Parts: sequence; structure tokens; C-alpha cells
Amino acid sequence: RKQSLVFAVNGQRFELSDVDPSTTLLEFLRYQTPFKSVKLGCGEGGCGACIVLLSKYDPALDQVHDSTVSSCLTLLCSLSGCSITTAEGIGNSKDGFHPIQERFAGFHASQCGFCTPGMCVSLFSALVNADKTNRPEPRPGFCKLTVTEAEKAIAGNLCRCTGYRPIADACKSFAS
Ligand code: FES
Ligand code: FES
Repeated sequence: RKQSLVFAVNGQRFELSDVDPSTTLLEFLRYQTPFKSVKLGCGEGGCGACIVLLSKYDPALDQVHDSTVSSCLTLLCSLSGCSITTAEGIGNSKDGFHPIQERFAGFHASQCGFCTPGMCVSLFSALVNADKTNRPEPRPGFCKLTVTEAEKAIAGNLCRCTGYRPIADACKSFAS
């Protein structure tokens, strides 16, 4: 019996059959969905322009594991039961922008914008994982993220425009 591939992107369910085993998540997102914030930069895991958040339930720990992946290196077929979040899923003009996106704008951390969606997803993943820790509740407007974690959050994302300072400042503005 033929099996279909079921996964979610930004809360939207996808059920596919006859998936080409060589199709990457990046190709799927850009050519078959409206979620085109993911960008093809290097195509080999080196630039971070295609980074998305991959969430998967871990039955052994009974919790959801959240991590960033390069969608250019992630095969669509490997995503059975997974949930993907792109920059559109973090916030958008219709449903409202996320504070990460607002601060990137406010800190002038985006110039051409090519790297920005991946940067925002990387920071979002760091915030989500910091939130899972037992650290004390932060002050309003801040997160459980440490300054070092905020800086390291974007270690896998390259930017050719900004010189990184405004991006690092935007990220560190969440650290408590
Ligand atoms: Fe550069 Fe995927 S396109 S890491
Ligand atoms: Fe242009 Fe980062 S804003 S690559």
C-alpha cells in the first residue's frame, strides 16, 4: 500500500504522495508553497539563508524537540510527522509581526533583506529553547536568553550587507 508523507508548515497540513526522494525542503517551500521567505544562497549548508525551524515530537523524552536546519540540505522525505516554521510562521503583515521582526527593523538590522528571514528563524529557535529552561522569568520585554546565546544564535547565518553589528544588537536586545 502506498504511503503518503504528512507534515506541517506554519500550521498548514501537507499530505503528499509520490515525492521525488531528491526533493529538498527548500525546493518544496519555494516552488510549491507561498512561504518564499526561505532563500537559496549557497545550496550547501554554509550561509543560513534557507534556515527553518524543525519541530518534532520525541516520544522518549515526551517533549517537542526544536532545532534549526538548513532547508537546502533537508530532504522533504525525511519530514514525516514534523512541523516546520519559516519566517512567515513567526509573524507576518496579516497576523502581525513578531517582536524579533520588529526589532530587526527597529535596529536597522536588514538592508537587502536576503539573510533576514534565516536570521529571524535562528533567533526564534534560540528564544524557544531558552524558554524551555528552568531559568527565572525575565523582565517584561526580555527573554530567558543569555547575551552569549543571543550572539551565538546567528553564528550560522551570513550577511554581506550590515557588518553584523545591528543584527547582533537586535538579538542581544532580547537577552536578560
Ligand atoms: Fe546556504 Fe542553505 S542556501 S545554507
Ligand atoms: Fe543583505 Fe544581510 S541584509 S545579506
